[in-house]
Amino acid sequence: MKSSYAIQTENLTKQFGNITALDNLTLNVAHGITFGLLGPNGAGKTTTVRLLTCIIKPTSGTAFVNGINLKDADKIKAITGLLPEQPGVFGKLTAVEFLEFMGSLYNVSPTILNDRIEDLIEMFDLDERKNDLLETYSRGMKQKILLASALVNDPAILFLDEPTSNLDPQAARMVKDLIKQLSKKLEKTVFICSHMLPLVEEICDRIGIIVKGTLLFEGIIPEILAETHSKTLEEAYLKLAGTKATEKELLAWRQF
Ligand SMILES: Nc1ncnc2c1ncn2[C@@H]1O[C@H](COP(=O)(O)OP(=O)(O)O)[C@@H](O)[C@H]1O
Ligand SMILES: [Mg+2]
Repeated sequence: MKSSYAIQTENLTKQFGNITALDNLTLNVAHGITFGLLGPNGAGKTTTVRLLTCIIKPTSGTAFVNGINLKDADKIKAITGLLPEQPGVFGKLTAVEFLEFMGSLYNVSPTILNDRIEDLIEMFDLDERKNDLLETYSRGMKQKILLASALVNDPAILFLDEPTSNLDPQAARMVKDLIKQLSKKLEKTVFICSHMLPLVEEICDRIGIIVKGTLLFEGIIPEILAETHSKTLEEAYLKLAGTKATEKELLAWRQF
């Protein structure tokens, strides 16, 4: 039976010592949409992604990913893909070898894996470089192969943590276009978290705004504009989050 939501959380909370990184998050994300969790550094975005991909365990609260309880960590890992905030590639592997390695970690059967790798190489336009060592790739190209590797198990839900941070504008453009393609062509549910307002504004169907562990808003951009009597998302973001963080913190992405 298909679950009614791709992601459902109820009072999901994570404490590290006396820091409450995530405070009673209650959120529903529908299937097939691109959802963006926007918030300044330290807001709890990475913590949310790490909880929902079962890398860490909640202090309290519950969540279901594709209808599966977080307690079933192995099942959730099998149906999710993750582009972590600070990913690493193995420089001495080629793109194809890296995808084969990642596929084997997910126990994808070799016949399915070979076809899937071919599809990913084509979709990500990696054919010319597929047998080059990853240590020779640019940062943008590395991000491309990492994005491809997050799809190697054909996940129902793809988590992307700061997918365009640390990329130059051209590479960021390429990654944004790829993410748009993923949600359209492959009809994936994509959960993005980022502190970069323009990214979220451009590619997400719905957004959540989180500051200091608390979700302040969830909805579509016209709703947030109406609710805060704002003309732009930036204005709305500053009004909503301004009491919890400074303008400098909220607009930190501008420094890059
Ligand atoms: N493993 C950890 N140990 C202690 N504190 C942590 C840990 N991970 C995150 N935090 C703290 O939790 C808060 C939220 O962090 P994080 O989820 O990484 O925020 P974001 O991704 O929005 O920048 C921050 O105050 C951070 O310092
Ligand atoms: Mg983060």
